[in-house]
Amino acid sequence: MANPVGVSLLGAGNIGSAVVSALARGADRYAARVGRPLELRRVLVRDTQRARAGIEPSQVTGDIDDVLRDEGTHVVVEVMGGEEPARAYMEAALRSGRHVVTANKEVIAKHGAALLQVANDHGVRLLFEASVGGGIPVIAPLSRDLLANEVTAVTAIINGTTNYMLTAMTQRGADYAEVLAEAQRLGYAEPDPTADVEGIDAAYKIAVLCGLAFNVDVAPADVARQGISTVTARDIAYALQLGHVIKLLARARFADGEVEATVRPTLIGVQEPLAKVDGVLNAVQVEGDLVGRVLFEGPGAGQGPTTSSILADVLDVAQDVAGSRTPLPFIPRRQVRVRPPEEHSSRAYLRIGVRDEPGVLARIAAALGDAGVSIASVIQFDPEVTGGEEGTAELVLTTHRAPGAALARALEQIRQMDAVTEIGNVLPMEG
Ligand code: NDP
Ligand code: HSE
Repeated sequence: MANPVGVSLLGAGNIGSAVVSALARGADRYAARVGRPLELRRVLVRDTQRARAGIEPSQVTGDIDDVLRDEGTHVVVEVMGGEEPARAYMEAALRSGRHVVTANKEVIAKHGAALLQVANDHGVRLLFEASVGGGIPVIAPLSRDLLANEVTAVTAIINGTTNYMLTAMTQRGADYAEVLAEAQRLGYAEPDPTADVEGIDAAYKIAVLCGLAFNVDVAPADVARQGISTVTARDIAYALQLGHVIKLLARARFADGEVEATVRPTLIGVQEPLAKVDGVLNAVQVEGDLVGRVLFEGPGAGQGPTTSSILADVLDVAQDVAGSRTPLPFIPRRQVRVRPPEEHSSRAYLRIGVRDEPGVLARIAAALGDAGVSIASVIQFDPEVTGGEEGTAELVLTTHRAPGAALARALEQIRQMDAVTEIGNVLPMEG
């Protein structure tokens, strides 16, 4: 058979080890697809002394230069995670003429445009299907199959850990710490769970999707972000009473030459397709002028699904190495304003703790009315439900669509009222 296509890995942890075993298991199929066998070359890790299944000790290295010097390496797969040195290693690999495949949403969200430029300058490709949605094909469809569309919105559940947690809290009434530990045990969570539960991971992913869907740069810091740590069992129960479930929703819209992007726990009507995306499943809904709405749904994290996307990219570039394809042209990004959260507009769910006395509801309603926020519904929950003190209550109000700044003005007034004990939660509401 012809010379192999050499594949080196940066990282052999949860995902890298699964890539190694899948490469071995599927060797014959992959060779048939590419026309040349795939050969595992070098594997970069931190701990070079540890024995690793399917990897010869002579292949293991702690030095990136061993990978870059290896003439048999055509494709570098980055599954180390983190920003640096992963970014620098990817750039060096591209500059040395290697194709790069990565699962690293942080690096792609922060440096994707610059790295794509380097790849383009050096006539190689940078592919990142696994960086968003685990096993769901979404990067390739956005880059190719939906290209004829003007994409106006992307709405997504793109963090498996938090979706797993919120689903377990909704269906089993399980508590936060217990479900977080479960998600970590199953390998869904990032090494530091803060990235998952505070919406940082999802913010990286929606920033990556903005680049592809709208052809614009959105820095992760420009994504308005709220994690799930504020969501209580009571919010979940109240949402259900309102016919909604709470999901950590990542949204991006493009209109009038501006983009807005958010990651927030959001109430979604139970009849909406995204409300039924449970457990570690992810889903990405794209709205385009020609296609209307399309929904991509599937396993969003874990070894098998992530390896599926990584190896799809490896096979794709291996075909380039084997000489059967020409690279896609690189299109420079537009620079547009990122709309700040005060200018976003949505319906809202408000949970407000009050002393249960005459006139409180009227004053809260007046504050909302004065700010131009229209109330859609009000329910009062007494201490038997809230577990609060006698003489207190929780008001759950929902509003019609209103600008974030108007709602913030009303909440500022409400917060200062003597009879208001807390603004328990404020969440956007869909469906
Ligand atoms: P792990 O922490 O399990 O593995 C990281 C690997 O990289 C380890 O082998 C580690 O070496 C190596 N490594 C880390 N830093 C360095 C360094 N500075 N120099 C050399 N080697 C280094 O991470 P995962 O496998 O879970 O995740 C990898 C990537 O995949 C991340 O970007 C993650 O976001 C992404 N991803 C993960 C998914 C999942 O379900 N877990 C899903 C989709 C994407 P050593 O073994 O010696 O510690
Ligand atoms: N921690 C991430 C998640 C892994 O839970 O979705 C996939 O990127």
